[in-house]
Amino acid sequence: MAEDYILAFDQGTTSARAIEFDRWGAPGMVAQYDLPQHYPDDGWVEHDPADIWRLTVKAGQDIIAARGRPAAIGITNQRETVILWDRTTGEPLHRAIVWQDRRTAATTADLRRDGAEAMVTSKTGLLLDPYFSATKIAWILDHIPGARDKAAAGQVLAGTVDSFLIWHLTGGTAHVTDATNAARTLLFDVDRQTWDEELCALFRVPMACLPNVQDCAACFGTTAAGIFGDPILIGGVAGDQHAAMVGQAAFAVGEVKSTYGTGCFALINTGTRRQESSHRLLSTIAYRLDGQPTYALEGSIFVAGAAIQWLRDNLHFFEDAKETARLAAASTEEGRVVFVPAFTGLGAPYWDPHARGAIFGLTRDTQPADITRAALEAVAFQTADLLRAMRADAGDITRIKVDGGMVANDWLCQRLADILDLEIDRPIVTETTAQGAAVLAGLTVGWYSSLDEAADARRTEAVFGPKMRAEDRTAASARWQDAVSRVLSGPR
Ligand code: G3P
Repeated sequence: MAEDYILAFDQGTTSARAIEFDRWGAPGMVAQYDLPQHYPDDGWVEHDPADIWRLTVKAGQDIIAARGRPAAIGITNQRETVILWDRTTGEPLHRAIVWQDRRTAATTADLRRDGAEAMVTSKTGLLLDPYFSATKIAWILDHIPGARDKAAAGQVLAGTVDSFLIWHLTGGTAHVTDATNAARTLLFDVDRQTWDEELCALFRVPMACLPNVQDCAACFGTTAAGIFGDPILIGGVAGDQHAAMVGQAAFAVGEVKSTYGTGCFALINTGTRRQESSHRLLSTIAYRLDGQPTYALEGSIFVAGAAIQWLRDNLHFFEDAKETARLAAASTEEGRVVFVPAFTGLGAPYWDPHARGAIFGLTRDTQPADITRAALEAVAFQTADLLRAMRADAGDITRIKVDGGMVANDWLCQRLADILDLEIDRPIVTETTAQGAAVLAGLTVGWYSSLDEAADARRTEAVFGPKMRAEDRTAASARWQDAVSRVLSGPR
């Protein structure tokens, strides 16, 4: 029914989706289109901004055609991915450089060698790694003829995917972003809540290119007439992992959520005081409301669902990811095969952009089921690496809230509980990133008076408890650690 739902866009790494949410947090109609991927070189990953725009609009139009006008729009997005475009024509200067892209690894290594990391980390909570946006923006400015001159003349706008979408949705009138997306660029001081001159100079990014930074629940502009019919307010924006904190109602200090999409990202709420990590986790903004940031520590894994996609599309082991639970259960070998899916390097806590993937322990009788099982186990082992660092930084953790497409897989959830030795809490709605964006927009239009009121919508569907014997867990973890040590590019 018109105006009785919020339209949430989830512009992820592999798809553009639009989902309808009612006031009680229940999802309705979903429209989804796969986003073409481009891999022009080793470790390079790009998206065509025209695809991002076209498929997002198409998904939104599908929902609006069926459900009428929404009360508001919420946007959540793949983070760190950057787009630069012409302020007048809206034409992109280059394809989007995706968060997974490693082309600027030499730049971040040089900066680290020059001793810049301590200052960068103290201001941004991040590390010097090509994962983040700043070096990608500079790469485009350096490699497109005339781009730096154009930027100096104020003709170039830069932004993460949320910012690019909002600029186009508002007919080129709003160049804005939210604090969570800004916090992933390496250019934003997360204590002072502002773009930082010293960082912009270090990464050679002109400040004039950058968007205005707002709270996650705010007026980001209204859609230009024609795109979705009458103008619609864009009332909520957050990077996908931050939106998932909201969708999972992880509002109390010490609560952890872990989202399994293309990659896996675990965040622990550390409250209104920023905590620095001593174990190479990121310190980031979970969400910002009324100018007040709530902070989180984050562990980022670059490949989770992407390994399953690779087994499906490149090795043709199965046609549908849903088959992986059955295959893993059918594998008779007990952990001989270990798969380290470091396709684009390793993220937390290793931060090695030069590591590459490997499969160990193959024999003549190794079956696709064994490699599939190893791919799922790798997700659990990588999460365990993050949780170890998180426990060391933030104290004991007994339960994590999980979400994302992969957690429909019971075998994976049980393996997570076994390897992590804690309870895995799966909610009824696992589309928590889009749900979080809808909640943020709902706050802006007065559907909810507070986050806690919106949180009432979250319900647990299943809890998986650890069943593995301690000695088996220890042996499995040792095999994983040994395999990781063999793909790292140098001593840690
Ligand atoms: O930091 C990258 C992350 O935001 C991508 O999320 O869901 O596309 O794996 P996803």
